[in-house]
Amino acid sequence: MAHAIRFHKTGGPEVLQWEDVNVPQPGPAEALIRHKAVGLNYIDTYHRSGLYPMPMPSGIGLEAAGVIEAVGSGVTELKPGDRVAYANGPIGAYAELKVHPVDRLVKIPEGISFEQAASMMLQGLTVQYLLRRMYLVPKAGDTVLWHAAAGGIGLIACQWAKALGVNLIGTVSSEEKAKLAREHGAAHTVIYTKEDFVAKVNEITGGKKVPIVYDSVGKDTFMKSLDCLSVRGLMVSFGNSSGAVPPTDLGILAAKGSLYVTRPSLMGYVSKRDELVASANDLFAMVLSGKVKVGPRQTYALKDAAQAHRDLEGRKTTGSTVLLP
Ligand SMILES: NC(=O)c1ccc[n+]([C@@H]2O[C@H](COP(=O)([O-])OP(=O)(O)OC[C@H]3O[C@@H](n4cnc5c(N)ncnc54)[C@H](OP(=O)(O)O)[C@@H]3O)[C@@H](O)[C@H]2O)c1
Repeated sequence: MAHAIRFHKTGGPEVLQWEDVNVPQPGPAEALIRHKAVGLNYIDTYHRSGLYPMPMPSGIGLEAAGVIEAVGSGVTELKPGDRVAYANGPIGAYAELKVHPVDRLVKIPEGISFEQAASMMLQGLTVQYLLRRMYLVPKAGDTVLWHAAAGGIGLIACQWAKALGVNLIGTVSSEEKAKLAREHGAAHTVIYTKEDFVAKVNEITGGKKVPIVYDSVGKDTFMKSLDCLSVRGLMVSFGNSSGAVPPTDLGILAAKGSLYVTRPSLMGYVSKRDELVASANDLFAMVLSGKVKVGPRQTYALKDAAQAHRDLEGRKTTGSTVLLP
């Protein structure tokens, strides 16, 4: 037996329950992991609320780091005692113990702690594909707009963009968050709850606007983000923190300057084993070089996951958050 957070109906944070669960032995191509740190991600709130529907009852969480306790038959690449982390399903990372497919695990290099690994696997791999692997990525000297720049994804993006020589204009909801984003490498910040971010982007770029907008806020920012793009610019709509983007007439992309739009998901960039390993190696190298510093800015006991969800959705957290089993 072990403890895990589960929920039997979708809803607010209060649906998350700390339960006793049976833990099966690992089957072929699986490993049993004792979690040392569990990543908190905004997508967990979409699963909990029902925005991304799932069969009920369910576990929750996509990211964790820990130690292998046992491996199933035929597993030779990993052994008990190995330090591993993962950032994609099957869902159920909010647990003390979890059986997980071996082909979704990566070994944590020396010099990276469990808490750091659980802070960066999902958010860092996302920044990796957004800045390095999409069909269009920014180059040194470009200026891009990045919403929610003081969040988990945001603070990693500020640092990685700076390391690439990319000027990141970060939007945030408060002066404290603006300072934090600048300290992490944002070239400019805009307090989008007080200032008109379209006007600010125009001002900062001398009217040129930007070639790429990274928008994870969704409903509240999508349409105005399009107005920040230069001709043939790319809108990367990669999240729904304020709610899902409503259906949009594609004709608007022509009217606003032959724009491109993509709605990517991390799973589309790391579902192949070789892509996962290459992306994780790139991320680990950035962290070990010191160019991107990672680690939780908040920790909660795993059993207090509901409070962590309240704080994340209440815009009270900054950077990454880890839940401790
Ligand atoms: N597509 C992908 O591959 C992928 C992968 C990972 C994450 N994501 C998305 O990336 C986004 C960031 O994820 P994260 O885990 O790093 O979370 P986060 O950025 O740490 O937290 C969300 C932030 O969004 C901002 N926000 C703006 N409007 C909001 C509202 N109405 N309610 C709550 N927050 C609001 C808040 O920052 P301010 O207070 O500064 O506004 C808040 O701190 C999420 O939308 C997530 O779904 C996408």
